[in-house]
Amino acid sequence: MLVSIPEVLSKQQLKSVRELLENADYVDGRLSAGKTARKVKKNHELATDSKLHGQLNNIVMNSLFNHPVYQAAVLPHRLATPFYARYEPGEAYGQHVDDPVMGPIQGRYRTDVSTTLFLNEPDEYAGGEIVIQSQIGEQKIKLSAGSAITYPSGSLHKVAEVTKGTRLVAVTWAQSLVRDAEKRELLFNLHKTREALQKKYPDDDEVVKIDHTYINLMRMWAEI
Ligand code: NI
Repeated sequence: MLVSIPEVLSKQQLKSVRELLENADYVDGRLSAGKTARKVKKNHELATDSKLHGQLNNIVMNSLFNHPVYQAAVLPHRLATPFYARYEPGEAYGQHVDDPVMGPIQGRYRTDVSTTLFLNEPDEYAGGEIVIQSQIGEQKIKLSAGSAITYPSGSLHKVAEVTKGTRLVAVTWAQSLVRDAEKRELLFNLHKTREALQKKYPDDDEVVKIDHTYINLMRMWAEI
């Protein structure tokens, strides 16, 4: 399931993030890639020891984690510290699946859902789409600044070569409370239906039963 999340960051937050990134030190992105991904990765990332990380994460992670669509679609349990990546003309990230387990020894997590948050506008660069293999074929995605796309970390994906301008993104991973992608999709669809019905028929007993079913399905499937 691919879910796009509109307006994760406000215009003001985007401005702050862009200003912070302008003075940032970037390093070769291959340093953070696993053995297989390293061969196909060509970009630059904010140095992990950069002092800016904390400030950026406060803005980006809080907004993403608290976004109702992210919550409902990803059901996040553990969240990774994001990478801030920059792609210049000629840079790309070839076909890969994301590393299955990330984080330091004391705080390891499984990657179930990947998120790419776009930090600049699509007309600021050419190419640079994220291309994801999904059940309904190849999806090419390039969203407006401040919006995000989530996709299963195990799905084949790549970043098309940037041919003009600069592509700026934040990329992060989550271990979900519900490991199985099909179960997550079912819960997400049931959640959307439940919300729509609650709005339409706030006092209806049958709607309350649907709500209870969602809650108890979550209890049945959640792993912590
Ligand atoms: Ni990836």
